[in-house]
Amino acid sequence: MTAPTPVTAPDPTPVFDPEHAERLIRGRRATRAYRPDPVPEETLRRVFALAAAAPSSSNTQPWQVEVVSGAARDALSRDLLAAAEEERLSLDFPYQDDLYADVHRQRRSEAGALMYGAMGVARDDLAGRAAVNRESLRFYGAPHVALLFLPPNADARMVNDVGMYAQTLLLALTAYGVASCPQGLLGFYADTIRASLRLTEERPKLMIGISFGYADPASSWNAVTVPRADLGETTRFRE
Ligand SMILES: Cc1cc2nc3c(=O)[nH]c(=O)nc-3n(C[C@H](O)[C@H](O)[C@H](O)COP(=O)(O)O)c2cc1C
Repeated sequence: MTAPTPVTAPDPTPVFDPEHAERLIRGRRATRAYRPDPVPEETLRRVFALAAAAPSSSNTQPWQVEVVSGAARDALSRDLLAAAEEERLSLDFPYQDDLYADVHRQRRSEAGALMYGAMGVARDDLAGRAAVNRESLRFYGAPHVALLFLPPNADARMVNDVGMYAQTLLLALTAYGVASCPQGLLGFYADTIRASLRLTEERPKLMIGISFGYADPASSWNAVTVPRADLGETTRFRE
């Protein structure tokens, strides 16, 4: 009888070049101007298969992802613009503006100044800001938008899962050369989006939308680099 072959543990430390991680993670940007050409279906399938490798609590994978393109995307944008015009807001997760502490408000206003600056919209230019809002309901010209839903009974805990999924999706898109913009604003129109996608029976809860496609490199709207707080402001190392 031959001795069983010892099971050798797989190499526990597969080494990825950190430079690749730096490029992938820092290479993702919120992109707000797109070329109209769609992402090939094969790439879409690979990206969304990769995103589905995201971790989730007890591997529940509670996200429901609707990838909207073509005529359905155009109809959704029309429905959103009509809802905005009529101020028909509907949020599954309530928005509280007073949630933010001063330091967070400060970072928000710095990022806003950079973004609107690149767009050529002054702080007091309300019409300019409204035009940007409308453009965002056209998904900034992106040919696709992914809507990330949770089950109708989802609680705050499940938001972790969809957040993990969302960032995994953003990085998967980046790896395939596809630009993206997470859009919390789309969550302000949950009923409109459910109606447009005919999800009114199931009533899944809408967390966020992610517009994506190929970036328009010529647009100043994409010439924004939003800095991050110094590490010490957000992260403590304890021993
Ligand atoms: C949860 C979430 C919601 C966001 N909502 C919007 C949005 O509604 N509209 C928008 O243009 N950008 C939105 N963004 C993009 C942020 O403004 C952007 O990620 C941030 O300013 C940092 O810039 P960067 O992604 O280019 O590094 C959102 C990002 C996240 C993570």
